[in-house]
Amino acid sequence: MTDRKKLVAGNWKMNGLAASLPEVHAMVTGAADVPGVELAICPPATLAGAVGVAIKGSAIGLGGQDCHAEKSGAFTGDISAEMWADVGARYVIVGHSERRTLHGETDAVVSAKALAVLRAGLTPIICVGESLAERDSGRTLEVIAGQLAGSVPDAAGQSPVVIAYEPVWAIGTGRTPTVAQVAEVHGAIAAAMEARFGAAGKGIRLLYGGSVKPDNARELMAVAGVDGALVGGASLKAVDFLRIAQGCA
Ligand code: PGA
Repeated sequence: MTDRKKLVAGNWKMNGLAASLPEVHAMVTGAADVPGVELAICPPATLAGAVGVAIKGSAIGLGGQDCHAEKSGAFTGDISAEMWADVGARYVIVGHSERRTLHGETDAVVSAKALAVLRAGLTPIICVGESLAERDSGRTLEVIAGQLAGSVPDAAGQSPVVIAYEPVWAIGTGRTPTVAQVAEVHGAIAAAMEARFGAAGKGIRLLYGGSVKPDNARELMAVAGVDGALVGGASLKAVDFLRIAQGCA
């Protein structure tokens, strides 16, 4: 797995205004110093066009934070995967725990969205992760296995997908799992994907997400089976985002 190019994707969530664009320009400049790492920025949809222009021709890719499963239609406020493709995105995050928790998205909804992303010719970043109560009751691997079975569509056997392991209790809290805990879950995800998809499953990149910061990135990214990071808060500032990327190199 360590031979795969690492991906560091920044999930800006509901943050960022036009005034944030200088950060993107700084990321573009700094990306040249981390040629071995693939970078992606997932800004709010309002900034997608401007970020797309800013990163054009650079090594940084554009991503969406969510999409609707349908191509188009009467879905006020929603954005389709085709729309993300139209604005030049390469990735769309689906099944983030904030979507699952705050918007009631089930595994079936997440799977339909992941399929929509593939239909649009893009790569879904499918998120899974246990709550603190689930971890404390020793159910982590069972919960992750269930989310994978329900959220990863069969089409992942033919088209590339990325999976992000994000323990819910680590997101935005400053808490991170131990290296052993990350290794255990990543190993279980890799085994499940290989069992289901064979060689294609082995090729699936597995990101870790949840309180990845410049000072812990190197340790987390060195864990066996970790192919990169999904970064929230620390992806808003170019200096932090780039230091995390350097931690992968
Ligand atoms: P965080 O968020 O890095 O701010 O913990 C990660 C995520 O939600 O993807």
